[in-house]
Amino acid sequence: MSKITAAITAVGAYVPEDVLTNKMLESMVDTNDEWITSRTGIKERRILKKEGEGTSYLAIKAAENLIEKSGIDPKTIDLVIVSTATPDMKAATTAAYTASQIGATNAFSYDLEAACSSFLYGMSTASAYIESGRYKRVLLIGADKMSSMINYTDRATCIIFGDGAGAVLFEPNTEGLGYQNEYLRSDGVGREFLRAKFGGSSYPTTPEALANHEHEVFQDGKHVFKYAVSNMADAAAKILEKNNLSKDDIAWLVPHQANKRIIDATANRIELDPEKVMMNIHKYGNTTSATLPLCLHDYENQLKKGDNIIFAAFGGGFTWGSIYLKWAY
Ligand code: UT7
Repeated sequence: MSKITAAITAVGAYVPEDVLTNKMLESMVDTNDEWITSRTGIKERRILKKEGEGTSYLAIKAAENLIEKSGIDPKTIDLVIVSTATPDMKAATTAAYTASQIGATNAFSYDLEAACSSFLYGMSTASAYIESGRYKRVLLIGADKMSSMINYTDRATCIIFGDGAGAVLFEPNTEGLGYQNEYLRSDGVGREFLRAKFGGSSYPTTPEALANHEHEVFQDGKHVFKYAVSNMADAAAKILEKNNLSKDDIAWLVPHQANKRIIDATANRIELDPEKVMMNIHKYGNTTSATLPLCLHDYENQLKKGDNIIFAAFGGGFTWGSIYLKWAY
């Protein structure tokens, strides 16, 4: 019997209609389009403004898009994983609500949280379930309503993040396509430099914390940038080395969209031509768990069966890594 690999067989995505441009941010904080564009590559981002709607709204829309495109019966999905840093609420997993709303009534479901690496780690988890033969259809969704934890008076963070969601379906493959290998790491040193402190179990929210925006994202950008550049580039180089791949073997790099300069540094490290690098940061900013599947969605028409794809991400915690996958359709 041939070995079972875990292939991505469908992609879906959703971004909210409301656009927050650099020009609009100029009227909110002391910043300008030229600074944001040259330092990050971002021109605009999407914001979910629907009253009372959270990350599940984005996740459901992305999953529905995938289901509609692929024609699969949601009742055949075994597991729904929602990778997110912004669950709808505590204790009640966002994935359970998402699965029910899309009609995945025979699935179990849970959230997976690893900041900006949530989707990357989710790919590892989803693939392992398929490779082991335990499940046949795993729906992995990366979704974040980052605007729910952004301080829109802090120019160091509010220019970066946006809202969005993407989804992929993992299914068994017997042609050797799909998930090939991974290099995943984490380092707790990162919690000093990127976090939303209050509201967590160590720091229950207080009126003072709320007034000081300490329940929202704080980032020491310079430090995070330094770690991100070296670790994301290293991870990409390591996965090539581990799999005896040269730059000519690679069809695409799918990098986390946090900063164009980090993406460029990663591509340069593995000497990849810019046209092989997926990039949509100018349209969406950093959507945290949604960046990788949003890239797949935007570039889906250009992907070919057998393409060697390298995913790379870096995020809070710190968490980071790279994954090597062969495209299956
Ligand atoms: O996705 C998860 C992981 N996150 C990341 O990977 C993000 C990593 N960090 C970054 O992308 C970058 O550090 C930022 C985009 C956040 C900041 O860019 P930077 O080039 O590192 O800027 P900086 O923090 O070193 O600030 C440079 C200057 C400072 O002014 P002085 O001290 O030189 O006078 C800042 O006060 O730019 C100033 N500045 C701004 N100016 C205009 C900071 N934010 C802004 C702003 N507009 N929005």
